[in-house]
Amino acid sequence: MDDFENFTWGVTIAAAQTEGAYLADGKGMSIWDTFTQKSRRIKDRSNNQIATDFYHRYKEDIDLAVDIGLKIFRFSISWSRILPDGSGKINQRGIAFYNNVIDYCLKAGIEPWITTYHWDLPQRLQDKGGWKNREILLDYENYVAILRDHFADKVKNWILINEAIVCIGAGYFLGIHAPGKRGIRNFSASIHHMLLAQAMGFKVLKEKENLNVGTAVSCTKIEPFTNNFSDKKAADRIDALMNRVCIEPYLGLGYPEKELPLSKRIKKFVQEGDMEALKTDFDFWGIQTYAREVVKGAWYIPYLGAMLVSPKKREVPVSIMGWETYPHGTQYFVERFARYDPKKPLWLSECGIALSQEEDDQERIAYYKDVIKGVKKVLHKGIHLKGILIWTLVDNFEWAEGYVPKFGIIKMEENTLNRKMKKTAIWLKEYLLNIKL
Ligand code: BGC
Repeated sequence: MDDFENFTWGVTIAAAQTEGAYLADGKGMSIWDTFTQKSRRIKDRSNNQIATDFYHRYKEDIDLAVDIGLKIFRFSISWSRILPDGSGKINQRGIAFYNNVIDYCLKAGIEPWITTYHWDLPQRLQDKGGWKNREILLDYENYVAILRDHFADKVKNWILINEAIVCIGAGYFLGIHAPGKRGIRNFSASIHHMLLAQAMGFKVLKEKENLNVGTAVSCTKIEPFTNNFSDKKAADRIDALMNRVCIEPYLGLGYPEKELPLSKRIKKFVQEGDMEALKTDFDFWGIQTYAREVVKGAWYIPYLGAMLVSPKKREVPVSIMGWETYPHGTQYFVERFARYDPKKPLWLSECGIALSQEEDDQERIAYYKDVIKGVKKVLHKGIHLKGILIWTLVDNFEWAEGYVPKFGIIKMEENTLNRKMKKTAIWLKEYLLNIKL
């Protein structure tokens, strides 16, 4: 039962949601800096120019994580802080910042994990088409090589791209995230390029010995509204889109063409050798799941022929994100991934729930307790689930939702940016002290 003893708790944050200092020390503009300048795109009209000011307060945040008893500090690197133009000249002050974060983690006794990309593309690369332009493959490869050369001596665990499907779905299909592009061509090209880039990034990192390199995938439990043929087929399509497109090509299974006709659009951007190049034996999979969606057949919806039945209509518990609160998804997806490869190490590389400022934190504690129940079950089955990384430490910039949804286990005072542990953090600290899974 060594999995029980080795089960690890950590936390995840992302650069564009926390760092602020958006032009400090030579950083270039990212697509999120540009996107939030038109702040009507953000629900509370906010931006991420200051965010949680992690850039200046990283020591305090790392200290808080350590105080809670967390053992992993996963943060993402802002590409445009390292390469203000996306490629070309390296910004040494950007390198110095992340070295400081890494060194502080190591000194404080918490393991730093790097995410190479959490959605904040340099604006200069977007000006050339961003993920839609195949040239991005070389740019990403070059960027990852720079990260490896500067940080891999000190950082062993790496996550390449965070949630490709959400990044490209929201940013290049629905247009609700940066860079605000829409449409099937933008989506199809960009998703294929992002997946390929990640496969190339894996090889680049693995040139260095002893690195543990994985990816983090978004997973959403999908169920049909009724058992009729049309709803079931629609659910299969959405499941293939949300839970397979960004996973199965790496396993050599290709795009899920049978269930998802839209795969044919993606295949238009596949060049000779690509499907082979996609095959990647990641060292681990990071599973990130928040909600369940129920799906109905809807022939009039282009490409997908499906629509979601809103959680409100279904009268299920809903978080301030409008998502069904569904902690059982963690167990479901861990078991589903174990079926792909029972030996592969798995992580819950993000896990959390958003509440409003006013809500009592008990709901978040209950959420984590339910997740723990699922974790115990999968560990008892002998599945290689290694740990959980909480989403997230301090309330932060929740993309197009602004600052209203509060995912943090630590509260940030709006004007002073002072941090204060919420009940969840206090509960978790106690739990980790007395851990008995
Ligand atoms: C993302 C985070 C985001 C969280 C809640 C995940 O999909 O990786 O950046 O804040 O979900 O929406």
